[in-house]
Amino acid sequence: APVRLADYRPPAWLIESVRLTFDLRPRGTRVTARLALRRNPDGDGGPLRLDGRNLRLVAASVDGAPVSPETDAEGLTLSGTASGAALPDAFVWEAVTEIDPEDNKALEGLYLSRGMFCTQCEAQGFRKITFFPDRPDVMAMYEVRIEADAGSCPALLSNGDLIESGALPKGRHYAVWRDPHPKPCYLFALVAGDLRETRADFTTVEGRQVRLGVWVRPGDEGRTAYAMDSLIRSMRWDERAYGRAYDLDVFNIVAVDDFNMGAMENKGLNIFNAKYVLASPETATDADYARIESIVAHEYFHNWTGNRITCRDWFQLCLKEGLTVFRDQQFTADERSAPVKRIEDVVTLRARQFREDGGPLAHPVRPEEYIEINNFYTATIYEKGAEVIGMLHTLFGPEGYRKALDLYFERHDGQACAIEDFRRCFEDATGRDLTQFARWWSQAGTPEVGVEESWQEDGGRYALIFRQSTPPTPGQPDKAPLVIPVALGLLGANGDDLLPEGTRIVELTEAETAVTFEGLPARPVPSLLRGFSAPVRLIRETSDAERAFLMAHDSDAFNRWEAGRAYAVDVALRMAGGADADPAFLDALDALASDESLDPAFRALALETPGEDELARETFARGTPADPQALHAARDALRRAAAGRMGDALERLHREMTVPGPYSPDAAAAGRRALRNRALGLLVARGAPDDLARAAGQFERADNMSDAFPALAALVHADAPQAAAALAAFHDRWRDDPVVMDKWFAVQATAPADDALGRVRALTEHPLFDWLNPNRFRSLVGAFAAGNPSAFHAADGAGYAFLADWLIRLDAKNPQTTARMAGAFETWGIYDAGRQRLIRDQLERIAAAPGLSRDTGEMVSRMLGAP
Ligand code: ARG
Ligand code: ZN
Repeated sequence: APVRLADYRPPAWLIESVRLTFDLRPRGTRVTARLALRRNPDGDGGPLRLDGRNLRLVAASVDGAPVSPETDAEGLTLSGTASGAALPDAFVWEAVTEIDPEDNKALEGLYLSRGMFCTQCEAQGFRKITFFPDRPDVMAMYEVRIEADAGSCPALLSNGDLIESGALPKGRHYAVWRDPHPKPCYLFALVAGDLRETRADFTTVEGRQVRLGVWVRPGDEGRTAYAMDSLIRSMRWDERAYGRAYDLDVFNIVAVDDFNMGAMENKGLNIFNAKYVLASPETATDADYARIESIVAHEYFHNWTGNRITCRDWFQLCLKEGLTVFRDQQFTADERSAPVKRIEDVVTLRARQFREDGGPLAHPVRPEEYIEINNFYTATIYEKGAEVIGMLHTLFGPEGYRKALDLYFERHDGQACAIEDFRRCFEDATGRDLTQFARWWSQAGTPEVGVEESWQEDGGRYALIFRQSTPPTPGQPDKAPLVIPVALGLLGANGDDLLPEGTRIVELTEAETAVTFEGLPARPVPSLLRGFSAPVRLIRETSDAERAFLMAHDSDAFNRWEAGRAYAVDVALRMAGGADADPAFLDALDALASDESLDPAFRALALETPGEDELARETFARGTPADPQALHAARDALRRAAAGRMGDALERLHREMTVPGPYSPDAAAAGRRALRNRALGLLVARGAPDDLARAAGQFERADNMSDAFPALAALVHADAPQAAAALAAFHDRWRDDPVVMDKWFAVQATAPADDALGRVRALTEHPLFDWLNPNRFRSLVGAFAAGNPSAFHAADGAGYAFLADWLIRLDAKNPQTTARMAGAFETWGIYDAGRQRLIRDQLERIAAAPGLSRDTGEMVSRMLGAP
């Protein structure tokens, strides 16, 4: 049965303090939990109910007297003491449980990753460690004692400060950690293993000396510098931008090979998927560096938005995730280039969130029910959640926004909050009622904003008529109007901004809103939704000429890019319908790519060809089922045509956009490489022997991964004669390096060859294909399903069956990663009836698999449209 937001009740019991003792063994770890419990005066009363899953209860006591509570699959219930008396209003609960970290391939709770003990508790993993009220509104102080083998686990880490450590008999040792900040159990963490620390010191604005550590496996110490540098810059930035300083004497980051997600913000002990920590010039691309920087920042920023102020219940997930994503986006915009960051974020938003919002998995930023909360760590909660915060920033400006956030931190520090608390801070700080705005949190679906114009020569009157509507989504047939901030400018014939303020923010609050401008010298060209000021689909009749004009002139960098993107989508779809490449588009693209006044990183984005999934969804939006093979061919043809038209410019960019000196991951250097590699990719699409040789030469001469990998990808994706040798060389050099080898698998899984599925199948037999490692599984099976549309959507359904086979197999071990990947099927509705039937068959086959997890079961039934 689903859990419902409307059913929220305060906890019946509160916890004063938690003392945990771990006797770590790969099999049969004993956990002793001592909880000082107190009945919540605001609770419903009743017996003590503790959550617990896959635990063996060895012993339990109340105030030292043994008890035998009733256990079931989801936890235990304790109605009275051993003597049969009612439970006192305050008592000490102690329980010894036994768990099996080595057998834990779900990677939730306490598990073993290549000999290293680690935990992942968000959202509900703590109940796999000990019996506990596993909900975020129960906050307590923790003291944690870890005992382990000193030889295999020299490092023993938990939250807070180390207060004691020492040797024990039989080659074991121990450490005791204490976290002075009350926290929900999902922020608990423990790590024990053979780890090496990179250290740095940081002094906060408040004068606190903090010891920073990045912990990695022996051999990886040379790849921690960038994560550490990113951490230090994040700490400074949060002090400056939000007035938030760090609050403990220790901050540790640990890299783990087996991890379901990107990273986790455990108090004082962030645990990361190794691929988002480890970087060296030889092993990581510029994009990897950028992702490390933003994830390190994201997890660090959670210390205030998530940890100090946490969520009342899991329906409020966007309270911490949307806000923290917005914060990490601001950080990257400040550290690198704001327009480039905005374009990248919108590309991701459309590719992931619009895709989700337009299909059977659509849900509000704050959902109202769930079966498995892990299924709601979605693009909607994260990315659309961040857009909602961004709109508040736009509506109130930097000062109003800062005032509201200051109030939020002041009012709610130490609390578990709901979206309403956050909203009230904005209302109180700005004096504005946000009742209507709050629909952004409750209403699913991507709003559509249609625009019409009228022009009257007489008086220079220009009007824009906006009509908003939001399509129905599962469970929400009718939608009400939203508050939509539309940033707009008007351009004159020479490309100048006509509005005195350049950009004006217009607020749409009704189904229809008209805006008029008077005294304009001539009919303007509108530049609408500048900076993508709201997460909506803008629908407006426009012309190729106008798009080319905006590509050349818009003072808003985002819209300059956007005009080119929309134009490219149109041209690609026309080509899928049999048209030739539009020369006017290619001219406009060439002009943009060659404009030396523009940031190379921006030009690289302008040269990006829209992806096949985006083209497929756009085809459907225009009223026809998507044909994946035709779109693939059209996209290819567009790239070839662009390379043909722009050959000279591309060759020049490839020659000139080199970066002298040793590799540096800074934004300027990365931007030059991005443009250079974009040029290379297009040249290779042209496919002349010289072009392929150029890529092969770059691969061979590269002394860093940012040069090597794009060249490899270009060769492999073009099925060039040099591809096999390059893949072999890459394999031989990196076979012992999991983070790098994931790239080797992914580049092949996404290659659109005729026998793509055959190649992927063969790779599942490769000795390095470890399907229980989520990164490896995603780099092969996931990359095929998400990154090779023409093969995955083969008309015979073989791609679908292949994915379903693997999902059924993995589900028995790791439901979370399986359920997430099942989303590869979420767009089934945009394809023809034949493919729809084939996908439904596979979804039904998965649904019928014996012992299917709650996670995957929920995803599949939502995609099948079951209630
Ligand atoms: N809070 C983490 C982050 O945003 C994500 C953890 C997700 N874990 C999960 N089991 N769904 O950085
Ligand atoms: Zn987060």
